[in-house]
Amino acid sequence: MATPTLEATAKMMVADGKGLLAIDESTGTCNKRFAKWAIPQTPEAHRLYRELIVNTPGLNESISGAILYDETIRQQLDTGASFAKALASVGIIPGIKVDLGAKEMAAFPGEKVTEGLDGLRARLGEYRKMGARFAKWRAVFAIGEGIPTRGCIEANAHALARYAGLCQEEGLVPVVEPEVLMEGDHTLRVCSEVTERVLVTVFEELYIQRVKLEAMILKPNMVLPGIDCSMQASPDEVADATVRCLLRAVPAAVPGVVFLSGGQSSKLASQRLNAMNVRYKSSLPWELSFSFGRAIQEPALEIWHGEQANVATAQESLYHRAKCNRAAHRGEYNDVVEADHQVSGPPTAVPNAYAGSAK
Ligand code: 13P
Repeated sequence: MATPTLEATAKMMVADGKGLLAIDESTGTCNKRFAKWAIPQTPEAHRLYRELIVNTPGLNESISGAILYDETIRQQLDTGASFAKALASVGIIPGIKVDLGAKEMAAFPGEKVTEGLDGLRARLGEYRKMGARFAKWRAVFAIGEGIPTRGCIEANAHALARYAGLCQEEGLVPVVEPEVLMEGDHTLRVCSEVTERVLVTVFEELYIQRVKLEAMILKPNMVLPGIDCSMQASPDEVADATVRCLLRAVPAAVPGVVFLSGGQSSKLASQRLNAMNVRYKSSLPWELSFSFGRAIQEPALEIWHGEQANVATAQESLYHRAKCNRAAHRGEYNDVVEADHQVSGPPTAVPNAYAGSAK
């Protein structure tokens, strides 16, 4: 079967109400989350946990693609299949995190710049051979006194655009992730101003670096008040502020916007995504979907606790959160969907161009 074009892959990533599942926590982040539940922090425990996720029956009903970490894409399931092959065999597009992390930025106290451009072309080629069809690069922006600065925004936007260009050259859809962090007591309005400034700069750099907008996906933060802000916002207020910001900054040629969850609770993330689609879906040029990590995984990780006996219940929880977010992408999430813990049957066959395409 011919490999779909990058444009077709990007569209598939946000089609049918589906979204992405981020399981690309770096070793440090994964260990921190495991430590909270006293789960052993070993490569084998990481593998078992990711195997639980990938083997979740019916996951492909709601998840179009999954983002893996370097360690995981080199590991195998108990069956001996690689993670990329196991995902592709049920119609879930394999993706890979390719940045090397956000590091302190020289001369810019309190700000970070993401590293990983050196040698990236060769790494992308290797990941593609392993079955990855899209990639992710995350830049972070903290809000505080005088930050983010222009220097930090421009350095990160330039790196995102260079990464995206290399991805397209190597046959991978770039997921471009500029994340404005939730930490702080800033208001919704400040987050909106910063997010707009960041996105406008990112798209200017993407244009300068000749990135094809039809063949990429944007992964931004939702526009939210800081977690310590005394004035929190309703889902409708978040939806209005986020869509207004995106309409000002994101060109219509981009096929999809998939939000990170960034530390929001699972339910709030679903409610806010749903509010955007209820209020605006029919009039937007791009799909508004999800690429959640914590907001899909957290309840399952807590149930699993590193115990084989809890695998099936953890998978039910994961299936449920994925289903809630599919409903939110369609603007159909509500208390009934949230309360419906009906479990899925055996893995659903979803024929598409990715089934069996990974090595
Ligand atoms: P969260 O949804 O947990 O923020 O993770 C998404 C992600 O991929 C961060 O880079």
